Amino acid sequence: MELPLEPYRTKVVERIRLVSRDERLALLKRAGYNLFWIPSDATYIDLLTDSGTSAMSDTQWAAMIKGDEAYACSSSFVDFEATIHSIFGYKHVIPTHQGRAAEDLFFGVALRPGDVVPNNTHFDTTRANVESKGAVALDCVIDEGLRPDCPHPFKGNMSLAKLEAALAQYGRERVPLVMLTITNNSGGGQPASLENIRSVSDFCRQRGVPLIFDACRFAENAFFIREREPGQGNRSIQEIAQEIFSLGDGCTMSAKKDALVNIGGFLCLNRDDWAEAVTNQLILTEGFPTYGGLAGRDLAAIAQGLREVLDLEYLRYRIGQVAYLGELLQNKGVPILQPVGGHAVYIDAKAMLPHIAPECFPGQALTAALYLEAGIRAVEIGSLMFGRDDAVTGRFVPAPLELVRLAVPRRVYSLAQLAYVAEACGRIAAAKSRLRGLEIEFAPPVLRHFRARLRPVGGGDLFAA
Ligand code: F0G
Repeated sequence: MELPLEPYRTKVVERIRLVSRDERLALLKRAGYNLFWIPSDATYIDLLTDSGTSAMSDTQWAAMIKGDEAYACSSSFVDFEATIHSIFGYKHVIPTHQGRAAEDLFFGVALRPGDVVPNNTHFDTTRANVESKGAVALDCVIDEGLRPDCPHPFKGNMSLAKLEAALAQYGRERVPLVMLTITNNSGGGQPASLENIRSVSDFCRQRGVPLIFDACRFAENAFFIREREPGQGNRSIQEIAQEIFSLGDGCTMSAKKDALVNIGGFLCLNRDDWAEAVTNQLILTEGFPTYGGLAGRDLAAIAQGLREVLDLEYLRYRIGQVAYLGELLQNKGVPILQPVGGHAVYIDAKAMLPHIAPECFPGQALTAALYLEAGIRAVEIGSLMFGRDDAVTGRFVPAPLELVRLAVPRRVYSLAQLAYVAEACGRIAAAKSRLRGLEIEFAPPVLRHFRARLRPVGGGDLFAA
């Protein structure tokens, strides 16, 4: 494959270290085999998330120095708002400290207990925020999106049939909004096509249901549209993004992804009554409406990051780097979700580790093995994150997919470092029959994957002798 070329050079570096295997084993045990509790300075390559882990550009750092820290109506907010208007086009722009704060504020206003929110696939915090309002989070992604080996170019598409069935089952009055996550993170970082977004938009507009985007990775989604969708190849990323957002009525955004910053988010809405109610709540919990929990310098860095993320050369390198990792893994016989997503490669742990049952968390066992073998941190997106015990039967209900996400931070790691990751995965694949499943020692009631403690089933070592 053609090597993806970086459209930047390095100006500042950060020392990283690979601690010894003995130390890694001790840390893994102390963390309850939960990678969220491994110290970052004992992690060599950190692929836990692409969220808030981007390297900022010199221009963003310069913008931070110039950030206006006035409590109200800072010039940084004016730039932030104008930049967001120029891409997203919505009437109200409400800053928040990160994506889930936008979700909480918005759902607090828009949802009532018993409501139903269809989405292609809810991200975990989005699902949790919908459910915390007593509403039902319903995933309506196309069936191809649930099949890891299906090479469909737009596996993030919403199924119109499932959407229609949801409205028929619950009634229009119980569906106050429809969401669409671009790209579809929990479904493998897969894009939705412009054609699908147009159809979902038509469907919603005909029924008077607002369509709200979860826009975290909108530029990566727009790049896939430009690459893969007939007739889109000559358009700019900004034009495609503008069209996407014109088809909806608002968005929640975690700026920690495609705004290339370490913290921040926003909510955009066209509806005045929602914006009014959210703003009142914002002042109570996040801050004055022109900073919403962020410093002026954060707003400035977000505005500059949004300008940079629209750069075609950046996106070509970015998506190319993730595809490069995917190709190396495939060459080593590691089963991955096809096609490779925008921000991450997802290893199909169910296919790789068929001897570990879903209730023994094959994905989580693989993340533990990756850390133990190579100091790499990844995240499970499978039955630890989304599995549950049925409220009536008490029986374990597994997640539809058992994935391990290797999320690639933006502008951070070199191709050599990604090759090291692929090597390590290949080594584990060669020894996979010795890898054992995990059992839960402790789990909190909500978002359990963040705080759960586990151990190899029945005690003993992660790898059988
Ligand atoms: N929506 C999607 C699709 C996300 O991927 C995330 C975060 C959020 C909402 C929440 O945003 O973290 O700023 O509050 N995803 C991160 C991840 C955490 O690792 O995928 P946040």
